[in-house]
Amino acid sequence: MAPVLQIDDLKVEGRTPRGVWVPTVRGVSLKVHAGEVVALIGESGAGKTTVAMAALCYTRPGTRVVGGKVTLGGVDIFALDARSRRAARGKDVAYVAQSAQAALNPAITIGEQVAEPLLLHGIATPEDARKRALALMTRLDLPNPEEIARRYPHQTSGGQQQRVMAAMALTCTPKLLVLDEPTTALDVTTQIDRGAESH
Ligand SMILES: Nc1ncnc2c1ncn2[C@@H]1O[C@H](COP(=O)(O)OP(=O)(O)OP(=O)(O)O)[C@@H](O)[C@H]1O
Ligand SMILES: [Mg+2]
Repeated sequence: MAPVLQIDDLKVEGRTPRGVWVPTVRGVSLKVHAGEVVALIGESGAGKTTVAMAALCYTRPGTRVVGGKVTLGGVDIFALDARSRRAARGKDVAYVAQSAQAALNPAITIGEQVAEPLLLHGIATPEDARKRALALMTRLDLPNPEEIARRYPHQTSGGQQQRVMAAMALTCTPKLLVLDEPTTALDVTTQIDRGAESH
């Protein structure tokens, strides 16, 4: 069976403050098959986030892909037009960012944000989306989900925000989940509990 994600010889460059493009990712290849967990390990600045973002065909401003190929379920994601890429993001592949603070929309309540992918992709009615969002928030151990759903991101803790991000990523049951250090803001005990449970 074709891998869910295949990255071949990915090359990315980043622009220095002086405007010079330098290599940041020098030919990374990896495959993720269904049911498989693949971890990227490297020191700070090694390029983990850069590679993870490439799986969604996303590059941060000041970075550019200069070589390689990324296929999602056999589809070359760099070859897709912007609309098809947007259709895939959140539904086929979801991303949990390293910084929840930077990724959550400060002007939208938690409940609306978790339900939003289902509505954007036309998967559920508003009522079903709300129910599914609450169920996921419960599964992710968010205390009193009904109440948290009514809050804005700044009214929640860093660890709660990170779990909200995870809930958002899971709403459309994507084929591929890209997690960028998804437990850094959680208590050590929660990290251990959840880790033990998933093994
Ligand atoms: N917007 C940008 N413009 C130019 N260079 C960048 C940009 N973002 C990151 N870089 C550079 O790309 C390299 C890889 O960064 P990346 O964020 O992928 O590292 P990382 O392995 O995720 O690190 P960390 O563990 O600290 O999160 C770094 O050397 C960084 O300085
Ligand atoms: Mg990173």
